Amino acid sequence: MEKLAAEDRYFSPEELAGLTPEEFVALLRGVCALPGRGYLDHPLVKKIEAGTATLPQLRMFVEQFYLHTRNMMPAFGHMSSVCPFEEARNTLIKNLAEEAYGAVSGTKGHPDMLLDFGIAIGVDAAAAKKKRQLRPSRKVTDYYEFMSFCRPWYVPVAAIGAVMEASTPDTFSRMAEGFKKNYGLKDEQLLFWTMHVEADKEHGDEGVEIVERYVTTPEARAQVMECGVENAENWYGMFDIHRMAA
Ligand SMILES: [Fe+2]
Repeated sequence: MEKLAAEDRYFSPEELAGLTPEEFVALLRGVCALPGRGYLDHPLVKKIEAGTATLPQLRMFVEQFYLHTRNMMPAFGHMSSVCPFEEARNTLIKNLAEEAYGAVSGTKGHPDMLLDFGIAIGVDAAAAKKKRQLRPSRKVTDYYEFMSFCRPWYVPVAAIGAVMEASTPDTFSRMAEGFKKNYGLKDEQLLFWTMHVEADKEHGDEGVEIVERYVTTPEARAQVMECGVENAENWYGMFDIHRMAA
């Protein structure tokens, strides 16, 4: 089958199953980067690069992003541990250990690293920990739970790994540059962003491997496409949350 154009339309399970793994991943990433989806080139990224995002807006975004990274951990743990294939499961559990306490990079848990960045821009860490997630942030976490508990293990892994983490290196390096240039932040305060640039290069590749090996049937391809798109829309909303502050 010929490569399909990344457009906002219904793709049948059969069309998706007719693609090679490379074509499917390229289509999936393209569809998940359409306007209103994902964070690649999100308005917030442009505002950080221009220095026009205000500190209250950045604090709002970081607090809510932090709450998601912390609160999604049980869903992330579930999707990692239920994988029936030893090799893939071990990779996922390694990623989980890195996420939870920085086991691979020898740093610390990613939620705590994000909170450290928050402190550098004036977030009250103790108060942030007690906050509730606002709807755009909660939607991302709730959807991780839905994917993890109501879909096969490879659906959230592909939706998160092959799609979102593939756009992280570009997005987070632009954000880190903007934080340095416009907000006077130092390298050591930007660890959350810079460490994800390297880590997610690897995770993006792992996501592609998982698609190659396990996302092969029409039903599996369709579920990954559906959840990929919805997850990408939720992430757009998470980045948009900065608009809720002045
Ligand atoms: Fe992370």
